[in-house]
Amino acid sequence: MIKRAKPKAEPLPEAAPGGPRHVAIIMDGNGRWATQRGRPRLFGHHAGAKRVREVVEACPEVGVEYLTIFAFSTENWKRTQVEVAGLMSLFRRYITKETRSLSEFGVRVRFIGDRVRLDDKLIKLMNELEEATAHNTRVHLTIALNYGGRDEVARATKRLAQDVADGRLDPENVDEETLPKYLDTCVLPDPDLVIRTSGEARISNFLLWQSAYAEYEFIDTLWPDFTREEFAALCASYGGRDRRFGGVKT
Ligand code: IPE
Ligand code: IPE
Ligand code: MG
Repeated sequence: MIKRAKPKAEPLPEAAPGGPRHVAIIMDGNGRWATQRGRPRLFGHHAGAKRVREVVEACPEVGVEYLTIFAFSTENWKRTQVEVAGLMSLFRRYITKETRSLSEFGVRVRFIGDRVRLDDKLIKLMNELEEATAHNTRVHLTIALNYGGRDEVARATKRLAQDVADGRLDPENVDEETLPKYLDTCVLPDPDLVIRTSGEARISNFLLWQSAYAEYEFIDTLWPDFTREEFAALCASYGGRDRRFGGVKT
């Protein structure tokens, strides 16, 4: 059988100066996308997973160095057992299937979130993917899996308190710079732009501390319909925003 070559994607408009360095995405709307098609919710999750590579590969073209995606929240365990088990199996399959192409593209993958509740097989795959891509620098992809902003701050505070109890940290020296060092994201810059798909205008416990000064884009597109062109357009419009960080433009 002759394999038809994948049509080459049109080049994206060149990265505008002042574009976002770190984009975080709340990939929402998979369930509704599937329901609209009369299919089970997991069909939407599979379609959603396929969009990730396209967005990752667009990053260098639009000047994005860090991409952080929300894959599963600490609250998502409330869903049916079928959906949760299906998602966990999808994550295992996704990692197994994508490791090679992510690595070849120069993607460094990191996971944030609490791994304790995840199954051993998934944890092993996550560790292996992090190790296999640790030398890459082209795109820093962070996958938030069993992640919740409040949970992250609580876990960070616990470790910080332990350092105080053990005499390694003086409470007098605790300031705004201290807590981020204990967060899962300690090696990442703060997100510049947070995108949420599916028309919901809420952050659902995502990167609470880190997004204090992020710009937000809430767009109607359901995640499985999100394209690299839309991603590029959002990054381009970010370049035109006036981020004042509480100051006054001079
Ligand atoms: C986002 O899509 C993916 C996860 C939360 C895992 P949803 O599953 O929340 O889709 P909707 O919001 O129900 O459409
Ligand atoms: C946020 O979406 C979590 C992820 C995208 C993984 P949800 O669909 O879980 O958020 P809510 O329930 O609408 O706030
Ligand atoms: Mg949702």
